[in-house]
Amino acid sequence: MTDDVTRLIEQIYATDRHDSIRPLPTNPLQKVPAGVRPSSIAIEGGAFGDEGKGRIVDEVCAMLISQQRRGVVYRWNGGANAGHTVVVSGQKIALHQFPSGVVVPGAIIVLGRGMVIHPGDLVMEIDRLMQALGEIPQVKIDRMAVLALDTHRVLESSLKGWATGGRGSTGRGISPAYADVLLRHPVRMRDLAADDWRDRLGKHYDMYNALVRGLGENLATTEVLRLNRPPLAVGSKFVFLDRLGAQRALLLPYITDVYDTIRELWSDPNVPFVFEGAQGVGLDPRYGVYPDVTSSDPTFDGITASTEGLIRPAQIAVRAAAIKATYMSSVGQRRLPTQAESLLATRIREDAHEYGATTRRPRDIAHIDVPCLRFFARVTDVTHLVLTHLDIAYPDQPIRVCTHYRDTAGRQVGYRPDQGYLDTIQPEYVELPSWDGQAARGARTIEDLPREARQYVAFLSGMMDIPPLFGTTGPQRDDIVSWLP
Ligand code: IMP
Repeated sequence: MTDDVTRLIEQIYATDRHDSIRPLPTNPLQKVPAGVRPSSIAIEGGAFGDEGKGRIVDEVCAMLISQQRRGVVYRWNGGANAGHTVVVSGQKIALHQFPSGVVVPGAIIVLGRGMVIHPGDLVMEIDRLMQALGEIPQVKIDRMAVLALDTHRVLESSLKGWATGGRGSTGRGISPAYADVLLRHPVRMRDLAADDWRDRLGKHYDMYNALVRGLGENLATTEVLRLNRPPLAVGSKFVFLDRLGAQRALLLPYITDVYDTIRELWSDPNVPFVFEGAQGVGLDPRYGVYPDVTSSDPTFDGITASTEGLIRPAQIAVRAAAIKATYMSSVGQRRLPTQAESLLATRIREDAHEYGATTRRPRDIAHIDVPCLRFFARVTDVTHLVLTHLDIAYPDQPIRVCTHYRDTAGRQVGYRPDQGYLDTIQPEYVELPSWDGQAARGARTIEDLPREARQYVAFLSGMMDIPPLFGTTGPQRDDIVSWLP
């Protein structure tokens, strides 16, 4: 154990004195330094996605937007590859392209330019929301957002036989849609809204038909995944355009130029802004480990690109990373350095339902890996932590936390996004007193948390050098503890 870890453990466990055991001294959403906009918060996945941040976004929206009776909920990346569930009047609604705050009255929902949007799946989501809420909230789809169509889903599946990358994708056509932008022939929401949309989208179909044929597949006869419905063959150009035409008619009222609206609302500090990221920093193509990466920017920098430079992360009062408090999870081929042994992994997987929300794949389970989480937090300049699943802990199982890595020469080294490198390092662990997860379940205040849970939070935030903001303690909407004063 290194000296800094020993000191931190002594400080917390011997004296029970650490800032994170108490609420924050001031409310970071209200008391902000010069140049920072109050009442603004962005939440990203601080690990490999699926951290359960949707719950917190929902809660934060309810807290901020119901006070002011209006506010913006902005999603800046990804598309139908994301998935989370919100409960409305006892009814569970699975959201994929909408952010969680969609059910909060007064929310202005923006699907930003940085997203890739599947019109068919979005229509389906709107339909579900209509059924549950009886009305649709204010939704604005940035006309510059890129389309992720059935053509992209077919190209993605056709490529699987050819390359090593992307085999484990969610099958939602995410990477071809983002690749379209770099290849300089994207189709955007504005193309779908244009009067000559059939011509524009027809050309897109022709190009993808040629690409898919070149890969030895058939665009028209290949079946693609659809939200809440069985897979369906893409069909001829005529069929493809007709289907899109019906979706277009339903989406037209929402497709708009959001730039001026965002600029005006952002300049009014009484309008809360909540930014919800999809996926997690560990899935970022630059900071994740190939090939298990997505193609969007899940970091706070993605907000700048999505708002065309209107909003920079440094102006956002709270930039919170959501991580699971006691373990990590991931899907794909990546080998996490802190992989948990299979008995514990199975226990956690079953108790925390660690199966992919979009793909249903069982997730790999690992011990908390501080060098990795610290790397992700540093590259995205995180100000606060959201610690989910504080109820996943076992009194007979100390919490294992990797505090450092050592290389083959025994030197202390950090995380780097390279599987070859990660395979050579040796994690070093500490074991900390655990608690009864059932006793933590449903806790609503810091004081309600078992003492060991509070001490552990203090340890983790001490190691990360980032204070906690919220924690979740169970599946109910109100099972949340807050460090806000
Ligand atoms: P894509 O985003 O569909 O291209 O998938 C690329 C990689 O990111 C795959 O390993 C997916 O499993 C993973 N991925 C994409 N979205 C999520 C998510 O919301 N949670 C966890 N993993 C995801």
